Amino acid sequence: MEPDHAALTSGNDFWHTTPGAGLPSITLTDGPHGVRLQASEDDVVTGRPATCFPPAVAGASTWDPDLLRRMGEALGDECRAMDVAVLLGPGINLKRTPLGGRNFEYFSEDPLLTGVLATEWVRGLQSRGVGASLKHFAVNSQETDRMRISADVDERTLREMYLRAFQRVVTQARPWTVMCSYNRINGTYASQNRWLLTDVLRDEWGFEGVVVSDWGAVADRVAAVAAGLDLTMPGPDDTGDRALIDAVADGRLDPVALETAAGRVRALVERAGERPPGEYDADAHHALAREIAGRAIVLLKNDGDVLPLSGGETVAVIGEFARTPRYQGGGSSHITPTRLDDALTAISESAPVRFAPGYDNPDEAAALAADSDVALVFAGSAHETEGADRDTLDLPDAHRELIERVAAANPRTVVVLSNGAVVRTSPWEARVPAIVEGWLLGQAGGAAIADVLFGRVNPSGRLTETIPLELADHPSYLDFPGEHGHVRYGEGIHVGYRGFDAREQAVAYPFGFGLSYTTFEYGAARATVTDDGIEVRVPVTNTGARDGREVVQVYVSVPGSAVRRAPRELKAFASVPIAAGETAGVVLRIAREDLAYWDTRFGRWVVEGGEYHCAVGASSRDLRTTAVVEVPGDDVRAPLTAESSVAEWLNDPRGAALLGQVFAAAAGSSGAIAHLVADPSTISLVGSLPLGRMAAFPGSPLTVEAVDKLVAEAGG
Ligand code: BGC
Repeated sequence: MEPDHAALTSGNDFWHTTPGAGLPSITLTDGPHGVRLQASEDDVVTGRPATCFPPAVAGASTWDPDLLRRMGEALGDECRAMDVAVLLGPGINLKRTPLGGRNFEYFSEDPLLTGVLATEWVRGLQSRGVGASLKHFAVNSQETDRMRISADVDERTLREMYLRAFQRVVTQARPWTVMCSYNRINGTYASQNRWLLTDVLRDEWGFEGVVVSDWGAVADRVAAVAAGLDLTMPGPDDTGDRALIDAVADGRLDPVALETAAGRVRALVERAGERPPGEYDADAHHALAREIAGRAIVLLKNDGDVLPLSGGETVAVIGEFARTPRYQGGGSSHITPTRLDDALTAISESAPVRFAPGYDNPDEAAALAADSDVALVFAGSAHETEGADRDTLDLPDAHRELIERVAAANPRTVVVLSNGAVVRTSPWEARVPAIVEGWLLGQAGGAAIADVLFGRVNPSGRLTETIPLELADHPSYLDFPGEHGHVRYGEGIHVGYRGFDAREQAVAYPFGFGLSYTTFEYGAARATVTDDGIEVRVPVTNTGARDGREVVQVYVSVPGSAVRRAPRELKAFASVPIAAGETAGVVLRIAREDLAYWDTRFGRWVVEGGEYHCAVGASSRDLRTTAVVEVPGDDVRAPLTAESSVAEWLNDPRGAALLGQVFAAAAGSSGAIAHLVADPSTISLVGSLPLGRMAAFPGSPLTVEAVDKLVAEAGG
């Protein structure tokens, strides 16, 4: 065994692969919403200046795959300019709980929205010859005890919710690398999980790239390589390299496993070598960051059309966040921006402004508000960072008090929020006519906020996560953050809006929600079944006076389903520009595979036959028109055995015919069972009986031999 082989499977240092035998070293660096290339040798945290694009919480709120692709392309150009081969992103874990410390780095509580957007992000990046690292694979939806916690999740939930976006991106965009997560899944570390890294990722999904560890995620190099992990980061890890060589020597590790891992790393380095150097236009990227940020802002409330501002009003700008923006979260994704817009300066360019920093001094702020036409209060969550979950959904007390004092002084008060994950609005929202959800918007966020406030951008951002009325309402509430090393995903498939809808709970703002300065009307939706799935067509008219953008959403329900499902699931969406007075004929396509559920009996995806209701509208709770189609099901049949119940036999055409003959022969004969089966109204009594057990009942028309014969004839 070549010692080089083992060394190739661990890093050379924090950010580079190990060179050797004519192979150069390549750079992998964070990610995801900018390029964080280490600026000086003794500081692994601070990066060189690079465009700080909007973090995923904002990017995803655009619901626009094209924008995300353009962001990926721009990131690829910056990587090329900085000689970065692999950018460590995107992060696509589901937002299981609104308290998740890294929610600002993730896309949504919905796997389809996440998967569609991340696919385009990866395509954009990789179109520049730079690799993505899809992370964190998998089920890394909390920061509490993140390096050890076991996420205990049933398989259907895993497949339909926590793995589904990964599956989509891997199969459709072919990322060069996938980064395994720190946590365990059902007891086994992701880094050592052969089922995850080999059976699912490679054998089922056809992944051919490199699995890289999250930084420090590998507890046992030998187990990791055996499971299918290729590159352990960071390095060097001489002890681990030696352990691999010893394990091969004494037969504990198949040499092919190590050769394969090293070969994949080699292929990655060679592939990266084809990347030509590049440069980027910092002004153009700043403009793109501003465009995305403007499209990400969600207008939550706008009573009496307080917004947009005309520019003729006197404006009180209140809150330090207007002057010192909160535009990204803490941790490995922290970018050193090329420049930084603040909202205070940007607003001053459009209207006469006076400013009060506010939080420590609501009196001054309230006096200023009383003396202005409009008051803009900048508030938000103080801190979101990798490594820690939040402990509340509430704004800091000082921010809440500021909102209340200013609103009491001026009825035209607009709250502008900066936060990486949802905050509770219910305690104060009734006091203000307008709320602008500004997330963390990246380096151009200040200008983008002014664009929306003054109507240069007509808001079209939509919520990618539900804003609950109370934290305790949330489906994850009872099972977060776990204890003694385990967190039980007790809500199962009912993550986010699926759970709120299933329990018919009121929410502050539903998934998919967002207002515009114009209005849209929906005509009747039509749906047709195609070879590839379902095609939905709907006319949407901009009935207001301004050009705008509508995010048209399709939610599917299967009312007669044989399996438990959420009342509705997002299956297609489109962000459509529609000029004032115009009608757009919107076409949305639902891939057949997206209709499938994970069938635990067969361990495979199954499309159930039956009626599918496609509800189309402006949010998950604002559905305007529904089209119903009959979808043919997959040809799957549960094997009939002696353990199958009488009802299962009768529900199967062949089983029903065979059993029918037995029952018909028994009709008229004596005995309690014969009597029961002869009377269809009693089927509920015997329906749950496993067929084989019928033989034990006195007077049964079935003997053990007869059951065996039936099973054989039914094709078992
Ligand atoms: C984070 C990853 C990041 C890596 C390298 C880890 O702590 O979880 O997202 O890419 O560090 O900085």
